[in-house]
Amino acid sequence: MNILILGSGGREHSLAWAIKQNPKCDRLIVAPGNAGTAQIAQNAALDILDGDAVARFAEENAIDLVVIGPEAPMAAGVSDTLRAAGITTFGPSAAAAQLEASKTFTKEVCDAAGAPTAAWKRFEEAEAAKAYVTEQGAPIVIKADGLAAGKGVVVASTVTEAHAALDDMFGGAFGEAGASVVIEECMFGEEASFFVLSDGKSILPIGTAQDHKRAFDGDKGPNTGGMGAYSPAPCLTPAIQHQVLSEIVQPTIDEMAKRCTPFEGVLYVGLMIEETGRARLIEYNVRFGDPETQVLMMRLGGQVLDLIQACAETRLTEMQVNWADDHALTIVMAANGYPGDYEKGSVISGLEALPQDSGAMTFHAGTTAQDEQITATGGRVLNVTARAETLAAAQKRAYALADQIEWPEGFYRRDIGWRAL
Ligand code: AMP
Ligand code: GLY
Repeated sequence: MNILILGSGGREHSLAWAIKQNPKCDRLIVAPGNAGTAQIAQNAALDILDGDAVARFAEENAIDLVVIGPEAPMAAGVSDTLRAAGITTFGPSAAAAQLEASKTFTKEVCDAAGAPTAAWKRFEEAEAAKAYVTEQGAPIVIKADGLAAGKGVVVASTVTEAHAALDDMFGGAFGEAGASVVIEECMFGEEASFFVLSDGKSILPIGTAQDHKRAFDGDKGPNTGGMGAYSPAPCLTPAIQHQVLSEIVQPTIDEMAKRCTPFEGVLYVGLMIEETGRARLIEYNVRFGDPETQVLMMRLGGQVLDLIQACAETRLTEMQVNWADDHALTIVMAANGYPGDYEKGSVISGLEALPQDSGAMTFHAGTTAQDEQITATGGRVLNVTARAETLAAAQKRAYALADQIEWPEGFYRRDIGWRAL
């Protein structure tokens, strides 16, 4: 099989690494890719938001399967263009990608499906929204309705903070994404993520994970795209997984099918595990998480190609996942200053000496190969990932590897995994 992966992060490097292990994989191209994907596949310069360009490239290169990493090409309808051209594609249609792109859409689907989530109300105008917040009191959650690069959510601990967030959003801080705002009940508990494949009808869970959103140790500092992750998430017990699949995921998939916008791809189910021992939905993403995918791929290995292919070919019911009783943990190394401003172009050394095997991989994110050197060209730059029989052992191994990397212009958290250990 010839396979094309769209994206350039650690998520895509880990997908490429796992897919490559499957003997069915003949040719592997990553567009646009990074210095890490260049070591195991061919990188291709391609505007991945341009569906016609991607379809043309896929046809010219006899691609049998396109795997879409990030949400932007999905929301831009790249899957639709590829499917219309007869190309087997892993990634939802633009209509189904609304489950991530629009908070209101997701809330309406959940209500119709009876899926437990926070109580909510939508507003298009600041005065009414503020009056509602005053009436409800704090803590309360304010969300820009559209895609805001993960920054459109404010968990306000006071009414004043909530009012300020509303002023920001209606004042245009998030452009169109903030033209309407969803105000939600604040839920409490432990957060975890569940990754579930769906071919539009059936579902197949492929793993749980927890990430660390804040930049610094002790969950302090600004929110980021994720500074580290581990899998499995111990708080997502088999009983809670069962509850989530039967009360949240399958009803959502059924509702999407009923609306004639079946969801085909991976559903990233963000959950709040409440003290009662039940989970409620925080949000859906319509793609793999980053850095959660790095730990999932480390655990799944080459079988992920069979799973993704079956998903894209609507025969998920034939599949089962072969689980090992293992744990994986990934540490994100980011450029000093991230998630704010950071320098680009610093040199990273020590990578060649690191192992690259089924127990340890350093996945690249924002890297570029230049004059036989690896330089940092993004905010999140490397994902040092290890797998072991226990989470504690995976953590120990990952930190031992991270400590061997020489990159003074970068930083990483020292406490990834603390919640589960
Ligand atoms: P989201 O962009 O929807 O993932 O939200 C970002 C973060 O805000 C989540 O990971 C949660 O930590 C928090 N959050 C979102 N919605 C709620 C809610 N209803 N109750 C409590 N926390 C929330
Ligand atoms: N790690 C969070 C995300 O991928 O959205």
